Amino acid sequence: MLLAGKKGLVLNVVNKNSIGWAIAVAAAEQGAEVGVGAQNERMAESVQKLIADHPSMRVVTVDFTIDEEIDRLAEMVAQEMGKIDFLVHSAAFAKREDLQDRFIQTSRDGFALALDISCYSLIRLCRALEPVMNDDGSVMALSYLGATRATQNYNVMGVAKAALESAVRYLAIDLGERGIRVNTLSPGPINTVAARGVKDLTKMIDHVHAVSPLKRAFGQQEVAGNAVYLMSDLSKGVTGQVIFIDNGYNAVTV
Ligand SMILES: NC(=O)c1ccc[n+]([C@@H]2O[C@H](COP(=O)([O-])OP(=O)(O)OC[C@H]3O[C@@H](n4cnc5c(N)ncnc54)[C@H](O)[C@@H]3O)[C@@H](O)[C@H]2O)c1
Repeated sequence: MLLAGKKGLVLNVVNKNSIGWAIAVAAAEQGAEVGVGAQNERMAESVQKLIADHPSMRVVTVDFTIDEEIDRLAEMVAQEMGKIDFLVHSAAFAKREDLQDRFIQTSRDGFALALDISCYSLIRLCRALEPVMNDDGSVMALSYLGATRATQNYNVMGVAKAALESAVRYLAIDLGERGIRVNTLSPGPINTVAARGVKDLTKMIDHVHAVSPLKRAFGQQEVAGNAVYLMSDLSKGVTGQVIFIDNGYNAVTV
């Protein structure tokens, strides 16, 4: 098994369709012990039900906007898990109106909120968890093509993802001192709670499936496979990268 003896966190999961959930399951199937994140106590109850059949998983609770919760998470890891080998940042948020209206209408507080939850949280989590990460560990965040192209209705989240991808590269320098790799996974559109906030999501999904080089549907499983690769020693030389999991959509003119 690729991840035998490894431990890590996948933050966060809201239901069985969450990309984070597919990543947590794939990591556990490869022998990893996984802390599966929920944003608050109410969501933790649903995640607790999801992990019921997975003895190598535990639920952890963390709201990315609250420093004390991030620090408490690091303390819990130190006390209950020891050192960890991987951290998956799989969370984003923007106000619904900022994903539905014209981008030019983005409010100051909506901008700050989207950047705080979707980007700054990665920096803050890495800082808190650095002392409990093993050398040669692996950190990854989830981004989207809207970071570098203006894609319909992605709006402020595109700006947040651009910042996130940049933060990944700077974190790769800092954590590279200890051999810890930091990368970005960039899936094409997948029907999840977060994605449904983007106007016309299903049209986007149909379009990407129709025009990409690989003519088939893709989803959480394909992302999870790449996450396992990045957690594993197979990817040791890879850091500061964006890996697209979108049937090749980003590579062609359509
Ligand atoms: N679904 C897609 O099409 C797609 C494509 C590319 C990238 N992504 C990215 O994948 C990641 C996971 O999203 P998903 O599509 O699985 O959706 P999801 O709704 O299943 O997961 C989003 C998670 O973000 C968490 N979250 C939101 N605000 C938070 C906060 N303040 N503190 C802590 N957690 C918070 C939610 O609780 C939820 O668990 C996100 O970064 C998203 O932008 C998704």
